[in-house]
Amino acid sequence: MAKKNKQTWDLAPAPESTGHVQIKDRYDLFINGKFVKPAGGKYFDSINPATEEKICDIALAGKKDVDKAVKAARKAYDEVWSKMSGKDRGKYIYRIARLIQERAREFSVLESMDGGKPIRESRDVDIPLVAAHFFYYAGWADKLDYAFPNRKFSAHGVAGQIIPWNFPLLMAAWKIAPALATGNTIVIKPAETTSLTIMKLAELIKESGLPDGVVNVVTGAGETGAAIVEHPDIDKIAFTGSTEVGKIIQKSIAGSGKKLTLELGGKAANIIFEDAPINQAVEGIVNGIFFNQGHVCCAGSRLFVQESVYDEVIEKLKHRIETLIVGDPLDKNTDVGAINSEGQLKTIEHYLKVGKEEGNEFYESSCSIPKKGYWCRPTLFLDVAQSSILAREEIFGPVLAVQTFRTIDEVITKANNTEYGLSAGVWTDKGSKIFNLTTQMRAGVVWANTYNRFDPTSPFGGYKESGFGREGGLHGLEPYLKFE
Ligand code: NAI
Ligand code: MG
Repeated sequence: MAKKNKQTWDLAPAPESTGHVQIKDRYDLFINGKFVKPAGGKYFDSINPATEEKICDIALAGKKDVDKAVKAARKAYDEVWSKMSGKDRGKYIYRIARLIQERAREFSVLESMDGGKPIRESRDVDIPLVAAHFFYYAGWADKLDYAFPNRKFSAHGVAGQIIPWNFPLLMAAWKIAPALATGNTIVIKPAETTSLTIMKLAELIKESGLPDGVVNVVTGAGETGAAIVEHPDIDKIAFTGSTEVGKIIQKSIAGSGKKLTLELGGKAANIIFEDAPINQAVEGIVNGIFFNQGHVCCAGSRLFVQESVYDEVIEKLKHRIETLIVGDPLDKNTDVGAINSEGQLKTIEHYLKVGKEEGNEFYESSCSIPKKGYWCRPTLFLDVAQSSILAREEIFGPVLAVQTFRTIDEVITKANNTEYGLSAGVWTDKGSKIFNLTTQMRAGVVWANTYNRFDPTSPFGGYKESGFGREGGLHGLEPYLKFE
């Protein structure tokens, strides 16, 4: 394929400063309000995926540490948190929200350094939403009787929460804020490639004066996660991550009485009708799949374009892809940052290879990429068959599978023909088409003439292999309560 750089301008680098950020050499576990060393004495590296440099050591929690964290959470639940009024719980959550806002810049820089996402996103999307979720759920803490009128309910007790690496602090906020508002205590584990911002959050939580043991953070990989899932004194598990691990968790807790919510993968259809505002739709496509390097469970990874506007959409899309700036996540001009880890880059490269071997026509940006670090150029596969691996499996990278359609019934059938059901997008000028589609799509979220928009007041979650249960909004309170 011809490599021609069609980018029409060059921007001078505009790196965000890092001088205000404080990173310790080593982070211990946060248990019972204290930072404690792991029982096994082991630590692992947290890496900056844009430079491959080590940022700090992170404690590796084993079964003993998880047990200690669960005991602390149980004690805090029994003695303090379950006895506190909703109004007082709310005060702590508001305080956490305000502290996050005050330190938004530091959190944004750390999120970009540790996870590879562009500073523009961590600064304008992730961290403001983190604060917004804490503010939103703080407001519910003393109003649960209004949320569920005439129903009797109580907290579960201790919640075990396991989160992924694509929106590290935001996924922590989605899980911690409603759990606290409803009166549960917490043992949470971040993903092994992105532990830094949650350790910073632990420092902030300590500073907020939240009673000891209400929130405990254990760091580590799958084994640490499994120790949480299997711990007999955990009442509720909330997991976001791969469908594969979601299934393991579901099996492992079967019959234990533990409550479960799963937010798993996706293979969302983004559907462009001929009457759509095409320029706006192209921005929506770009936002849907290249946003956060495609590390988004609701990414618009399958594009369906109505045949009559196919050429126009693809030409504009190719042009737009060429203008995307791929590189230093800390540069304010960057559109596409680093792939989160070497492992994830290998996964994406595997799909690129198989997609090419299948004989699909493809187009990749001709942008240059840095020598060090984990990078993937924005890539389109055109005229992809419904049976192609590219249209079926979650790639979790900046890779878009494009298909065409003629009629609305055809596109609904094709779009729903997937194991997943997390999200979808529709672009059209006609309100009736939007309503038709939103009612027929088997997806938890359907965006109309926009994509990847989030708000703490709207619930989020999937159907089928995308999991079950809702996070966000009033619905997000329910999984943390047991009803009589
Ligand atoms: P993963 O599902 O292994 O990791 C998610 C979290 O689960 C991490 O905190 C991990 O340490 C933990 N975990 C791993 N094994 C566990 C176990 N047996 N018991 C309890 N916790 C466990 O996902 P991974 O390997 O990082 O990514 C693989 C694929 O999963 C990606 O390529 C992507 O397709 C998908 N994914 C989906 C996400 C989503 O938001 N729905 C987020 C991250 C990945
Ligand atoms: Mg990292």
